[in-house]
Amino acid sequence: MRRWQGDGIYFGGDYNPEQWPEETWSEDVDLMRQAGVNLVSVGIFSWALLEPTPGRFEFGWLDRVLDLLHDGGIQVDLATATASPPPWLAREHPETLPRRADGAILWPGGRQAYCPSSPVFRERSLELVRAVAGRYAEHPAVVMWHVSNELGCHNVHCYCDVSAEAFRCWLRERYGDLDRLNDAWGTAFWSQRYGDWAEINPPRAALTFANPTQQLDFLRFSSDEQRAQLRAEREVLQTLVRQPITTNFMIGFGIKHMDYHSWASDVDLVSNDHYLTAADPQAHLGLAFAADHTRGVAGGDPWLLMEHSTSAVNWQPRNVAKLPGQLRRNSLAHVARGADGVLFFQWRASRAGAEKFHSALVPHAGPDTKVFREVCQLGADLKALAEVRGSRVDADVAILFDWEAWWGVELDSHPSVDVTYTDRLKALYDSLWRAGVTADIVHPSTDLSGYRLVLVPTLYLVRDADVDALHRYVAAGGTAAVTYFSGIVDANDHIRLGGYPGAFRELLGVRTEEFFPLREGEQVQLDDGSTADVWTEWVHPDGAEVLASYTDGPLPGVPALTRHRVGDGAAWYVGTRLHEQATDRLVARLLDEAGVRPTVSAPPGVEVVRRRDGDRTWLFAINHTDTEVRLPAHGVELLTGGQCAGELALPAGEVAVVREDRT
Ligand code: GAL
Repeated sequence: MRRWQGDGIYFGGDYNPEQWPEETWSEDVDLMRQAGVNLVSVGIFSWALLEPTPGRFEFGWLDRVLDLLHDGGIQVDLATATASPPPWLAREHPETLPRRADGAILWPGGRQAYCPSSPVFRERSLELVRAVAGRYAEHPAVVMWHVSNELGCHNVHCYCDVSAEAFRCWLRERYGDLDRLNDAWGTAFWSQRYGDWAEINPPRAALTFANPTQQLDFLRFSSDEQRAQLRAEREVLQTLVRQPITTNFMIGFGIKHMDYHSWASDVDLVSNDHYLTAADPQAHLGLAFAADHTRGVAGGDPWLLMEHSTSAVNWQPRNVAKLPGQLRRNSLAHVARGADGVLFFQWRASRAGAEKFHSALVPHAGPDTKVFREVCQLGADLKALAEVRGSRVDADVAILFDWEAWWGVELDSHPSVDVTYTDRLKALYDSLWRAGVTADIVHPSTDLSGYRLVLVPTLYLVRDADVDALHRYVAAGGTAAVTYFSGIVDANDHIRLGGYPGAFRELLGVRTEEFFPLREGEQVQLDDGSTADVWTEWVHPDGAEVLASYTDGPLPGVPALTRHRVGDGAAWYVGTRLHEQATDRLVARLLDEAGVRPTVSAPPGVEVVRRRDGDRTWLFAINHTDTEVRLPAHGVELLTGGQCAGELALPAGEVAVVREDRT
């Protein structure tokens, strides 16, 4: 891995000077300096300008931009510019265009209009990477390389003939022979047995449910195809450049189809894009989740926030603007959770194109605006936080997350459409957030020994090795809690027989004989006062103690919540979809049993996270409420330079970062 961090926290955004006359560029650099910007991503959507006709490159404008930025002391994260092919590619090679499952062609005119398996696209894009990297490898402004952009954002699934052939190759690699594939896909069912590889296709539009393992493998293949583009570009870059290489991931609740845990080893630094769901008044919880998950993908190391927005976006139904102070809270929440850089889409708001109503660091109205003033303030804040760079985040709790489990659980023809992957994940995460406890979101294969508590929401598909590791973790004194519809299938999406929850039966000391999903809107009561909906199941304790049972619904008297002592630890099972209050009560019991305490004792609505570097620690406190709050803290407040001796007064909507003195 190549070292990527500079002297402080990175600050800046996507810079698209090609959208503006050259006269604007020097004003841009002046304003960047005024704001304290030190890193911009350049060239992301520049292919059509850099290679206006096939094989003819025009770098003059980019030479001038990079020189100007360098003269102004602004560093550059230079894109390979392959994110969106120029129109000539589709004209010359219509077979590079992606197709939907129903066969419809997706035409150029938006962006990313290429089939991810297209050898023509691969060849032309790598030629561009060679040209750009060859020219700018030694440019003094360039400190980082940015492969493509949000790989798979729009084109992750392509069903064309080229993709079909690539899918077959991927399947041959996975299964070796057709017998193994037939077995894995369960093709004895519905007369689906394949006698020749050429008979196999992507799960194109069909009359009824497509084979689930075919669907699952297609999702795996599609993530791998996007990853292959990253790896191919990286290989070219590695031979030509010495700077670190990244690509911007899209980790968050909304993005399902890239298995970033498997991509992380292909980048020198993990970077992420995150946009708030503006309609959600609690969107800062989703932000915190995305940041904690990005850190999990980065293996706990610091990471870079490559994009977020200064205010509204342009692509939600109602693009709600950020209120004064929100930009700062959002940005510093990412830093609290391990980001060593805060970048935005984009530097200057576009005057034309589909994103002209998207906010930027410099709005249409110019620098005399709330947004630009807040941008300048943030630049100063990040400068004051330089010393936290490189530190890690304290977390005693792990939540297991696996993209394959997400894909598996949301396949069609399941017991209830109301069981979705992110539902329990979000419920448990939000509950920890409310309790003031930081969690790492990690892959099930992660070493769990450093955690006091491990939560396992809806891990429908799970591998034996990961179940065994969880068992060892609990036996060694850990506490774990597993929610319903976990452990149900193996990696081929075959049911684990003998009773649910299959893989976790032994660990949890329960055996479920039948699922009893609830009707829409139906609720059940538990004898501990909890209420729940969506899901119940006929659980038999098999070693576990019963903590709560149903008092009504289809299964009165049947256990809903159990606890199983295993070695020195305990494994809890949650067999129903507890409502928020009941989830908070459960989480409080789990935290208590595991001996996990909040970062500091803070009032509701105040987010507190600790970063640590050896003995040095920093406390980040973000007040999301509209009243002043007081928190215990000792040390120096880095943003204001003030001292806090025992107590920190944090006004409504404000953020504090304290270098702690805990002696
Ligand atoms: C990202 C993308 C940017 C821009 C931004 C708008 O998905 O990488 O290019 O489109 O969204 O929010």
